[in-house]
Amino acid sequence: MNITKSVAIITGASQGIGRATALRLARDFSAIVLVARDKDNLETIAAEVRSLGAEAMAFALDLRQLESAKSIIEGILERFGRIDALLNIAGAVPQIDLFQMTDAQWDDGMALKLHGARRLTIQAWNALKASNGSVVFISGSAAFDPKPGYAAVATINAAINVLAKAFAEQGIQDGVQVNSVSPGAVMTRRRQSFFEKWAPAHNLTVEEAIKKFPEQAGISRLGKPEEIAHLMAYLVSPAAKWMTGSSIRMDGGEIKTI
Ligand SMILES: NC(=O)c1ccc[n+]([C@@H]2O[C@H](COP(=O)([O-])OP(=O)(O)OC[C@H]3O[C@@H](n4cnc5c(N)ncnc54)[C@H](OP(=O)(O)O)[C@@H]3O)[C@@H](O)[C@H]2O)c1
Repeated sequence: MNITKSVAIITGASQGIGRATALRLARDFSAIVLVARDKDNLETIAAEVRSLGAEAMAFALDLRQLESAKSIIEGILERFGRIDALLNIAGAVPQIDLFQMTDAQWDDGMALKLHGARRLTIQAWNALKASNGSVVFISGSAAFDPKPGYAAVATINAAINVLAKAFAEQGIQDGVQVNSVSPGAVMTRRRQSFFEKWAPAHNLTVEEAIKKFPEQAGISRLGKPEEIAHLMAYLVSPAAKWMTGSSIRMDGGEIKTI
């Protein structure tokens, strides 16, 4: 069912989990705003969103740049006049060993996934207050199991979970709902690049690694972007309105700690 005049922003929408979320939300929102750097991919996805019945607007911008958040929110408010949901999905934190990673690589990971999402949420906040809107941050299951090759990913994901709770605390007063989602291993371009490193380290080809990894992780299979997208859609739906400040894992059962 299409809810009229509702606007959702999805960052990292040019592929992977963000793309799947944009296409899933096109069924529930009347306008979908797509943010990532790759203009051609965004145009293709904008056409797919339109074919599903929602309006589409695309911003081909680098969220590490300080001015991006302001220009996105101003552009949306000028065109649509409201914002109902913000899904901060963009992320490209380097997957490098703790003892190899440089300060510049740490800064780059934080500039996008932590500060890019933080700035966009702050810029969108007044509009989200006006609509009693929803925010979802994407974290990752590495936050709960910080392996050395994943130290920055784990640290920044843990920070995202806390940042989401800090926004949620303010959101209780302001009428804005804020949660975070921590996916496990989901097959995307990013996961493919993980396997390209993981495979030789385990004397496997990439194809063998993709088959072997679920067994090593204690799960039955890798996740699909569409599965995370369904959870995202639930979190920004009226059915989830009382859920806020929550940090939700969806990982095929990989992590079982409470
Ligand atoms: N896949 C997994 O197994 C997994 C597990 C846990 C958490 N996650 C998290 O889920 C999120 C999405 O991951 P994914 O696997 O779907 O990765 P992906 O396929 O590589 O997609 C990443 C998205 O972020 C965008 N992006 C990257 N740098 C950007 C920048 N500087 N400014 C704006 N957009 C930028 C990319 O678009 P452009 O290149 O066009 O800019 C792309 O749309 C990430 O935050 C990741 O950490 C993924």
